[in-house]
Amino acid sequence: MKLGPLNHLGIATPSIPDAVARYRALLGAEKVGEAFDLPAQKVRVCFVDAPNSQIELLEPLGDDSPIAKFLEKNPAGGQHHVCFEVPDIHAAKAELEAKGAKVLGEPRIGAHGTLVLFVHPKDMGGVLTELMETPKGGH
Ligand code: CO
Repeated sequence: MKLGPLNHLGIATPSIPDAVARYRALLGAEKVGEAFDLPAQKVRVCFVDAPNSQIELLEPLGDDSPIAKFLEKNPAGGQHHVCFEVPDIHAAKAELEAKGAKVLGEPRIGAHGTLVLFVHPKDMGGVLTELMETPKGGH
């Protein structure tokens, strides 16, 4: 395992449009992608670009969304996960499990169209941690 670049920070929000307006107005965000649905993960997603990384805004898609659960505890939203890149998601999963860490589910297609997995917060000091396979051919 070799820690790759920080790809994005996942931020839960009850409203992507309100969150985008806040990033623009308060922080001067300029590059904001189109919001899109990711039904497999029950989220609506929108990326705000920073020069060295991205903010992944996450809105619940349905009442059984993990983000809906998060917003029950944190109604205003908040930091949900961090995401680092790895070269090979299946190798990362095997290595994490060999080291005794709990990987949540099987690798699946994430918001960038590459395979992702999540490591349980209990193994990561309370931080839900996403690993994402680096897109082939770069970003
Ligand atoms: Co993410």
